[in-house]
Formats: sequence, structure tokens, C-alpha cells
Amino acid sequence: MEEVENKKIGEVRSFPEGFLWGASTASFQVEGGISNNDWAEAARQGKAPLCGRACDHYSRFESDFDIAKDLGHNAHRFSIEWSRIEPEEGKFDEKEIEHYRAVLRALKARGLTPFVTLWHFTQPMWFSERGGFLHAGAAQVFARYCSFVVDRLGSEAEFWMTINEPQVFAGDGYLKGKFPPFARNLISYLRVLSALMKAHVAAYRAIKATNSNVQVGIATHNIDFDPAENVLARYLAGFLDWFWNHRFLLKTKGCHDFIGLNHYFHHPIGKRAAKDAPRSDMGWEIHPESLYRLSVGLVRYNVPIYITESGLADSKDVHRASYITGYVGAVHRAITDGADVRGYLHWSLLDNYEWAEGFWPRFGLVAIDYATLTRTVRASARVFETIARANAL
Ligand code: BGC
Repeated sequence: MEEVENKKIGEVRSFPEGFLWGASTASFQVEGGISNNDWAEAARQGKAPLCGRACDHYSRFESDFDIAKDLGHNAHRFSIEWSRIEPEEGKFDEKEIEHYRAVLRALKARGLTPFVTLWHFTQPMWFSERGGFLHAGAAQVFARYCSFVVDRLGSEAEFWMTINEPQVFAGDGYLKGKFPPFARNLISYLRVLSALMKAHVAAYRAIKATNSNVQVGIATHNIDFDPAENVLARYLAGFLDWFWNHRFLLKTKGCHDFIGLNHYFHHPIGKRAAKDAPRSDMGWEIHPESLYRLSVGLVRYNVPIYITESGLADSKDVHRASYITGYVGAVHRAITDGADVRGYLHWSLLDNYEWAEGFWPRFGLVAIDYATLTRTVRASARVFETIARANAL
């Protein structure tokens, strides 16, 4: 790997002071006990795997954050479940606000800087029944929810993310038919992408009007489209890079105080991935150079970048340690080359519900035994700990 070659023997690669190290989760994937959203409904109808109690993180967040602290983390990303906060349209549940206040305070008490995602794929039933983001007025409804949460909890956290991965939500829900509402329709796909842009802009403005001290961004899911050495491949990769990685950010320019970069895929165009390339349990190629290229590709926006997801399914924990050193090394090189990356949050803290795949993929630094809910720290989590504590590789 190039990162390894670039490192001279004995050289220490330090990260900027205050660099954030941690892991990410999302409400539906870990909390358990959520029944009032479109994914729970899809599972009831047999269209998605049942999620049930998941990791029971809703009641075990304190001990889970003890583990994160013990692993040397100083930051943590989680999401607020919209269907808990606004179970019926316009009716907000203050008890659930207090739950998330307790979550935020538990993080703070352990020295973990929170990154709060306001919406990570799951929609309250009433919202999805009205047509989700495709219904007229969806942007305002979403902005109202976001500003309500920030009004109540804005003083507890600096970093707020409106939307997780608009590209994946739109693509899997409206083009590939993998996520609710399981559509396969190009026009709906393009419409929902535009609707999400409007929703982000409306939410950004509403949040800032409510609390001008907070930093607001999205998590963009960027893919490394890596062309063969020919004009056609380069043209195609350039188009895909613009359409998938940058169009949302460009159309919502001025409404990002920072960018959250989520990254999983290297996508060779007009050539094949190396035959011997290591792969995750889901067959996803491990290719750290991609995170370097994508981080540098965000320099043009001139705002701080946080890696808000990067990780792999690896039940036997055979690749995770080298994945972490490779990808963190790529981030270091991107910083050296001018990318203002200020944190790396691994996906995920815990094994969790991997959407349409259910529970079999194991993304956690911490393994979950779903029968007993026992947590077991994987060996690779200690490799990450060493990096985090030294703030260096
Ligand atoms: C999503 C996560 C998901 C992860 C691994 C991201 O696209 O934000 O919810 O679990 O990738 O597939």
C-alpha cells in the first residue's frame, strides 16, 4: 500500500492537535424498540429484516460510552430517531428529548465530542405515509423537526448533521428498490434527490435561526470512481464523480459549515480491481488510497472535513486492524496535502442492524452477541485505541 511505502521506517505520523477519534452509530441500527417508522413497518410486512431490540443501545448507552472511552475515543457520532421525537405530525415528545439530552450528557461526561445526525434513513410512519420527501411541504416539515431538536438540545452539542447520505437514501429507496419505499423509478429518484437538497437548505436555515452557535453539515457518501487510462473511462469517472459525489454539495453550497465524509467504495471504471485485493465479508474492496483521493476532492469547499464513517464488515476481525491503519494513514496523507480533515469516526462502535442485510454483517469495533447482548471488544479496536491515544500513527 502506498501509505506504507510513504512511511519511512521509524517515522511517526502525528495528527493535528485536537484531532477527533471515535466511532459512529445510527438510531435504528442500534437502539432497539423502534416501531413507529417505515423500516419497522417494512419488517412487519416481511419486506425487510426484523430489527427488534437490536443492541438495546437505547438503555445501555452509558455502558457503551464507557467502552468508547476505554478505547481512547474522544468523539462519537450517533443519530436521533425522528419517529421518537415527533411520533405524530406536529406532536413532539419532550420525554424523548430528555432521553437524548441524557445521551449527550453521558458523552460529555466521558470527554466524547458529539456529532449528532438528525436523520439517518428512517422516517416516522406519518411522514412516509404522506409520501416521504416527495410530498409538498416535506422540506418545511423536516426543517421544523430539526429546529425543534436544536432549540431543545443545541446547547449540548456543537456538530449537527441534517441528512445522512442523501445519495444512498435516494438510490437504494427509489432506484434500486432495496430500502423503503422500495421504488425503482428514475424520475422519483431524481425528484427525491432535489427534495433532499431543499430539505437540507431549509433545515440548515431553520437550525441557524434557532441557534447560531452550532455547526451544521451533512454526511455525504462518496465513492472513488477510479478510471482506466483512457479518455472514455476518464470522462465517465468525471461525470459520476460530479453527479454522485459533488452535485448535492454544489447545489446546497453555502449551507455547510463542515462536511461529513462517509466512505466505503472504490469503483474502478474501465478496469478491474486488483485480483488479490483484500475484501470485507460483504465483498467490498479494501482500498485506503480512495479515502485519500476523496478527502482531497473536498478541499474545494473550503470548510473543515470530518470522516464520519469508514469501516468494514469483518466478523473474524482479520482485516479491520490493517484497514484502520491504512485508512487513517490515507487521512494523514490527505492532511499533509492540504485537506482540512479534523476527525476520523469509524463505522461502527457496535455490530448492528445493516439495513436490508439484517444482522449478519459485523461492522463493530465491539462485537455483539445478539442472544445475550454481551459486548466484546475486538482486537482491532485496541489498534485503533493506540492510534487515538498517541494522536499519531
Ligand atoms: C450508512 C450506514 C451503514 C453503513 C454500512 C452507510 O451507508 O450510513 O447506516 O450501516 O454505510 O453499509
